[in-house]
Amino acid sequence: MLNPIKLESKNFLSSLDTSCEEFLHILELAKSFKNKDLNVKLKEKVLGLIFDKSSTRTRVSFQVAMSRLGGTTVDLNPTTSQIGRGEPIRDTARVLSRYCDVLAIRTFKQTDLEEYAKWSTKPVINALTDLEHPCQALADFLTIQEEFLDFKNVVLTFIGDGNNVANSLILSGALLGIELRIACPEGYEPNRSVVNKANAINGNKNLLKITNDPHKAALGANVLYTDVWSSMGEENQKEEKDKVFNSFTINSHLVDKADKDAIILHCLPAYRSKEITDEVFESAKSRIFQQAENRMHVQQALLSCLLT
Ligand code: CP
Ligand code: NVA
Repeated sequence: MLNPIKLESKNFLSSLDTSCEEFLHILELAKSFKNKDLNVKLKEKVLGLIFDKSSTRTRVSFQVAMSRLGGTTVDLNPTTSQIGRGEPIRDTARVLSRYCDVLAIRTFKQTDLEEYAKWSTKPVINALTDLEHPCQALADFLTIQEEFLDFKNVVLTFIGDGNNVANSLILSGALLGIELRIACPEGYEPNRSVVNKANAINGNKNLLKITNDPHKAALGANVLYTDVWSSMGEENQKEEKDKVFNSFTINSHLVDKADKDAIILHCLPAYRSKEITDEVFESAKSRIFQQAENRMHVQQALLSCLLT
């Protein structure tokens, strides 16, 4: 019988905070939770949610995951707490980790998340920063595994902004040793240090390919993935990005370039006729809502490991 394992790292701040084996174990646990084969109880454990940005999926899937595990959550945001009035992170973290057993934080700077983790005596989870979205990547790879059974020969193509979602796909892809292609407009490539870390893991295998040509990147791919063109906090760049990303929409022409059994993923929220057409979003190839559901199962698995 599968059981949660204690992870080497206290926190989950980055996709590189698990080993490949730990990552795969979390996916196995998530499948067991999804099939209701696993009964882990974290009675009376409390997850603190600190969200400096909006969220539907991440917030609710964490709340439901914790409730299914027999625990509970408290939900803080800048307007209802002292955080928005400038209370230092090091003070907030020291107080909240005396009340809560684990914290999930959505904020802007990765360094702020790291500051929380430094001062918290309890595990801290990255619920999205400008740099990474590692919980999303767990759900994405669970969805891919459900479709293709393993990661052998899977080519994952991300088309769009080289942002937090792309960065976590790159790092998790490197852990799993899969071919990852990123197609983005010039100047919107993924974070340099993320690319360097992935290349260091990949060694001489040339598994990470970054191009400005979405058609080249889509050729024969098994998964086509996209995200919003303007992320939270980039509202003032929207007009410009809509123009720059104009030829990076996942439409039926692009889907035709991919493998005939390719699936479509999107982390959501989606803007139809921008990064993806309504036709592709609603097509039989879309696994977007399965992917959204999987957020809850992987987070149940992650929480059970971090609280073991
Ligand atoms: N994909 C995702 O993180 O969605 P939310 O912003 O709704 O949490
Ligand atoms: N890149 C997007 C992801 C939303 C889940 C953002 O940061 O807004």
